[in-house]
Amino acid sequence: MQILDPLPNPPPFRGREPVRDVAIAVIIAAALSLIPVFTHAQQQRSFTPTDESPDDLPAGSGREETFYACTACHGFKIVAQQGLTRAQWDDSLNWMTTKHGMNAIEGDDRKIILDYLEQHYPPRSKPGRGSPNPFL
Ligand code: HEC
Repeated sequence: MQILDPLPNPPPFRGREPVRDVAIAVIIAAALSLIPVFTHAQQQRSFTPTDESPDDLPAGSGREETFYACTACHGFKIVAQQGLTRAQWDDSLNWMTTKHGMNAIEGDDRKIILDYLEQHYPPRSKPGRGSPNPFL
């Protein structure tokens, strides 16, 4: 029987085996190299779909409240790129509620957020020329 022959003639397909072995080795190596990535991901406490944080905004009272109220739905850049009067910010909040389903922000919360927006995102002196850094 050919299989028991100590020096068998190589079957025609035999030359492919080393290639397959290399392929398997590469796949195993790739899989192993992913393990640290998964382990690392599991160690992170939570996933946040944005890399923005309140620290990116100008310091001031109301910063956290404003950041979290507005980034529930969109990035803060969309807010920071605006420069509005208090009345216009007030309108924006209404618009978020009526058009975009934001929970109405009332009372002290609204005052805190409007104070912050008014102080840090007022109308710009040069209309139409945005700050190169939207957080400043
Ligand atoms: C419930 C979801 C939601 C919340 C919360 C929310 N927004 Fe929005 N906002 C939207 C949507 C949706 C848009 C439209 C996005 C677009 O046009 O791509 C938008 C757009 C905007 C825009 C852009 C308007 C323009 O002319 O381009 C501004 C400014 C804005 N929001 C301000 C705010 C502020 C300030 C807050 C926090 C007080 C806030 N939003 C919170 C949903 C929300």
